[in-house]
Amino acid sequence: MNVVLLGPPGAGKGTQAARIVEKYGVPHISTGDIFRANIKAGTELGKRAQEYMNRGELVPDELVVEIATDRLAADDCKEGFLLDGFPRTVFQAEKLDEFLASKGRKIEHVLNIEVGRDDLMARLTGRRVCKSCGASFHVVNIPPKQEGICDNCGAELVQRADDNEETASNRIEVYNRETKPLIDYYEKAGNIVNIDGGKAAEDVFAAIADRLGE
Ligand code: AP5
Ligand code: MG
Repeated sequence: MNVVLLGPPGAGKGTQAARIVEKYGVPHISTGDIFRANIKAGTELGKRAQEYMNRGELVPDELVVEIATDRLAADDCKEGFLLDGFPRTVFQAEKLDEFLASKGRKIEHVLNIEVGRDDLMARLTGRRVCKSCGASFHVVNIPPKQEGICDNCGAELVQRADDNEETASNRIEVYNRETKPLIDYYEKAGNIVNIDGGKAAEDVFAAIADRLGE
């Protein structure tokens, strides 16, 4: 099961990825998570990525492609994978296709999660993430049982550095400019399905599970 989650910032890619991983047992590969882990660890890669992420711009293609294909070459991806936030440009999609083709594989499902701009902004600015396990909540939509505390592990919930109004707004613009053309790219390939991401998270997941099957 080789799956790509496509959708603007705040569409619910990470939220749905957690549910998909639980049901289907595929490894979740989020390039955003990989960069944030590197920033936290203070690596050279983290330092390079951070300057782009803080502005809500895309990290340069060459860097992202290398990291994503390295990760996809790992043993646990042999039976399938769930890509979240990669590819994000047509160049990245082409490189991904080339990489998979060289292994006799291809993308089977592209799930395009659609949400309107106002909802995206409210979701991004209200998001809180766990400092320790990375679980994601929302102050209004998906509140933790105890304010500021992770339901899963009890650690502190914080706001992502790029979830302020200005950066979030730029991320949506960058998505419209650089990533939206991928919808066309995958429509030509014939493996994309649109998912209404404006519904409650359980309903969005039901539509996804319908597509992915048992
Ligand atoms: P990345 O981490 O991928 O961020 P993103 O694409 O901007 O997406 P988000 O993680 O913000 O949103 P999401 O769709 O996962 O939503 P979530 O489920 O959390 O990338 C960050 C940065 O890294 C980029 O800007 C770029 O700089 C760099 N980068 C990463 N990949 C790259 C690449 N391939 N190329 C170049 N640069 C790259 O949900 C959001 C909120 O809404 C949460 O609070 C959640 O609780 C809530 N919510 C979720 N679902 C629902 C629902 N159904 N109803 C109500 N609320 C909901
Ligand atoms: Mg995410």
